[in-house]
Amino acid sequence: MPFIIGIPAAASAFLSAGLTTQISVAIVICLVIVLITASLPSEWDEAPRSLPGPSFLSIVPFFRQRHDFLNWGFHITGQSTFQFQLMNNTVIVLSGASARRAFFNAKGFDLTEGFKILSGAIPMVRGVTSGVQTKRVSTIHKRLAAVQRNARLSELIPAILEDSRRIFDNYGASGTFDPFQQINELIFQTTVRSLSSCEIADDASTVARLKTLYDRLDTGTTPATVLVPWFPTPAMIKKLWATKEIYGIVSRAIDAREKSGISRNDTLQMLIDSGDEKLVVVGFIMGLLIAGARATGTTASWIITYLGGYAEWRHKAQTEVEALLSAHSDATTSSISSRLAEIPLEIWESQTPVLDSIIRETLRVAQPHTAMRRNLGPEVYINEKLIPSGAYVVYPFSDVHLDPEIYPDPWHFDPSRKEIDSTVDLPLPYVGWGVGKTTCLGTRLAKVELKLTLSLFLLGFDYILVDKSGAPIAPPTPNWNDILQCRPPLGSCFIKYTRTPLAL
Ligand code: HEM
Repeated sequence: MPFIIGIPAAASAFLSAGLTTQISVAIVICLVIVLITASLPSEWDEAPRSLPGPSFLSIVPFFRQRHDFLNWGFHITGQSTFQFQLMNNTVIVLSGASARRAFFNAKGFDLTEGFKILSGAIPMVRGVTSGVQTKRVSTIHKRLAAVQRNARLSELIPAILEDSRRIFDNYGASGTFDPFQQINELIFQTTVRSLSSCEIADDASTVARLKTLYDRLDTGTTPATVLVPWFPTPAMIKKLWATKEIYGIVSRAIDAREKSGISRNDTLQMLIDSGDEKLVVVGFIMGLLIAGARATGTTASWIITYLGGYAEWRHKAQTEVEALLSAHSDATTSSISSRLAEIPLEIWESQTPVLDSIIRETLRVAQPHTAMRRNLGPEVYINEKLIPSGAYVVYPFSDVHLDPEIYPDPWHFDPSRKEIDSTVDLPLPYVGWGVGKTTCLGTRLAKVELKLTLSLFLLGFDYILVDKSGAPIAPPTPNWNDILQCRPPLGSCFIKYTRTPLAL
C-alpha cells in the first residue's frame, strides 16, 4: 500500500524535474526492466521463435513456395527451430542432426495426423483414407508386405515389363516427350498393375481416367482445401467429385470380381482371398496408389532426365543391364522385355550397384519431401525447444540432403558420392526412404519398378535432353518449391529419342 501511495508523489517529482534528469531516469528504468525480464525464467525461452508478421501471411507460401518459405524462416529467425501458425495450428519446423534423430524416433509423433492437415494431397473419405482405424491401417500395411513377398514380386516383373513395352511401342521410331508427363504416366500404369486388378490395369481408358482424377486431387489442393476442408470452395467440390469417381471405379472392380466368382492372379484377388472387409480393399488401392505412384513417378522422371544429361552415367547403367542380360537371360529370346523378365528378382535386388547409386542420388537431390507429424503427446524437447502436445512438427529433407557440409556441391547429381557412415560421421545422413519409426513400406516394389522401366528404356532408346527448340541442354535444377514433382518450368526440358535396333 505505501508503494501505491508513493507513486503519484514520485510521478510529480519526475515531471517537475529538468529534461536531462527525466531522460536519465527513463534510461535507468528501461535498463532495470530489460535486466529483470532477462533474468526471469520465462516460459517463452522454451518456445521456438515465431516468424515475424501476421500469421495469415504464412499460409500461401507454406503451400506454394515451401522450400523458399522454410529457408526464409530459418534465416529470419536465426534459429535452427522456429514456429508459425496455420490458422489455429502451431507448426514447428526443425533442422539439424540431433533434431532429425529426435523427430524420426519420437514415440508420440504421428505421420497420418500430420499429413491430414499439412499435406492435403490425400482425398479425405472418412473410413477409407481418413479417420481409418489403426487396425485397418495395419491390415493395409500387412497386405502391402504380402504384395512384396518374393513370389508375388517375381510374378509382377513380367507384367511391369509388358506394360512398359506396350507404352514404349507407342513412342514410334523417334520423337520428343516431356519426361515429367510421359514417364509419370508410365509409372502410374505399372503401379496400377502392381496394386489393383487386371481388369483396371488392362483397360487403358480407365487407367487414363484414374490418372486424370489423381492429378485433379493433386492440383486441386489449395490452402483452403487443406485448412478448411468443410468449406465448399470450387476446388474442394472438384476434389470431392474426383474422389467419389475413384471410389466408384475401385468399388465396381471389387464387386465385379466377387460376382464373377472367377479367380485372377493379381493383387485384388490376394486382398479378396484374405477375407478383408471392403473398406480395407478400397483403402489399400486408393491410398497406396497415391502414396506409391506419385513418388515413384517423380523419381523415374528425374532419373531419365539426369541420365539424358549425364551420358557417362547413362552408359554405365546400360552396361550394367547388358551384363545382367548376358548372364541371366537366353540370347535367343526375341525381345528385350522378355529377356529382362528372365532375370530373377534377387539379381535385380542385389546385383545392380550402378542403378542403386543412381536411384539413391536422384532421391537425394530431387525428392522435395517435408516430413510431417503431429505430436500426439507427451510434450517433448527438441533442440532445447518445447514441442507441445497437439503441435504439428515438420522436417524438410532439404535440411540434410542439400546441406553442402554433408554433400559438397549439393545440387550436382553425382551417383559416385560415398555413402556417409551414420554410425561414425553423422546421425541419419540420408533419409530418402524414410528412417527411424517411419520407413517406406513400398521400397521393394518401387525399386523394382524403377529398375525395370529404366532398363527397358535405356536398351530400347538412344536419347538426349533438349529444350523446346530442340537444342541440347544440361539437366535442369530440381525446383523444390514444387512439392509433388520438383518439376522445372513447364516446356523447358524434353527427351529427344530414337529407337535402337533392339526389339522391345
Ligand atoms: C521412389 C518411390 C518412393 C519413395 C522415394 C518413397 C519414400 C517414402 C518416404 C521418404 C517415406 C517416409 C515419409 C516420412 O517420414 O514422412 C515413405 C513412407 C511410406 N511409403 Fe513410400 N516411397 C516410394 C514409393 C512407395 C510405394 C510404391 C508405396 C506403396 C506401394 C509406398 C508406401 C509408403 C507407405 C505406406 C509409407 C508410410 C509408412 C508408415 O506409415 O509407417 N511408397 N515413403
